[in-house]
Amino acid sequence: MSDTLNVSVIGAGTMGNGIAQVFADFGHNVILIDLSEESLDRGVAAIAKSLARFVKKEKKTQEEVDQILARIGTATDTSAGVAHADLVVEAVFESEQVKMDIFRTLDESAPPHAVLASNTSSISITKIANATKRPEQVIGMHFMNPVPLMKLVEIIKGERTSDETLEKTIALSENLGKVVGIAEDYPGFIANRILMPMITEAAFALMEGVGTRESIDTVMKFGCNFPMGPLTLADFVGLDICVNILDVLHDGLGDPKYRCCPLLRRMVEAGKLGVKSGEGFYSYGD
Ligand code: 3HC
Repeated sequence: MSDTLNVSVIGAGTMGNGIAQVFADFGHNVILIDLSEESLDRGVAAIAKSLARFVKKEKKTQEEVDQILARIGTATDTSAGVAHADLVVEAVFESEQVKMDIFRTLDESAPPHAVLASNTSSISITKIANATKRPEQVIGMHFMNPVPLMKLVEIIKGERTSDETLEKTIALSENLGKVVGIAEDYPGFIANRILMPMITEAAFALMEGVGTRESIDTVMKFGCNFPMGPLTLADFVGLDICVNILDVLHDGLGDPKYRCCPLLRRMVEAGKLGVKSGEGFYSYGD
């Protein structure tokens, strides 16, 4: 891949807009794709807000920010939005069916040389690649939230991903200033296989009265030097996403150690999804 790429990012939510921001920040031409103009407007506004924080901290000038924003275009038509892409990064919600449909469209509409990446947090890359006739060019690029700040890209090699695609993706991620961790294609890969059991265990500790939410978070934050306690982190990630990933781990690995805490599930059923819904283990006002 040449130095400046045409990158199409599918999904303008938290992960998608963060991914678009980082690619544009590093000089690539980005097209952010979502179903509605409203979603795209929200995504671009989130990027502008994040970049404004860097200006405030004097890490970027307003002129640099304007150039970054000028490199980001938008589209509501996926086929048109990926027609000139060297790389597509899909970052829509975690539905296997939706991702399979999108990858079928990408295969039909993206140029033959394009690498097709998914930011999935737990769905099999091998399975997603089956929706295309180029499984060797399909790979997992799992960014962490908040994308502009978190250093990791977990790269997942599907059963049929070629070494060439893997090497290109590693080089590209490192050129974005990221650190790469490579995972094989097993449920939850590395990050969520290790993170989610801690989150569900923290919910069990709360449910069983081992400690208050504050105690559990304080012990882990200050005792293990994590930036956030596990319950705060669960709210930040989204409790629905945590439940979804735990179910993928439990189903895919068949081991009861990945079982989702009933409290976590009950909270999701009640619409308590964490920061995004205004309430999770903690309350977030409006
Ligand atoms: N863009 C730009 N700047 C941002 C930002 C964003 N999106 N979000 C936060 N910041 C900046 C803030 O402006 C602030 O700057 P300042 O220190 O100069 O004022 C700085 O980051 C710190 O923010 P806060 O003071 O609000 O809060 P923290 O000190 O707690 O830092 C954090 C925020 C970086 C999110 C930190 O708490 C952290 O690292 N938390 C853990 C995040 C984590 O574990 N992420 C992975 C989740 S798992 C995942 O994504 C995988 C998925 O598959 C589930």
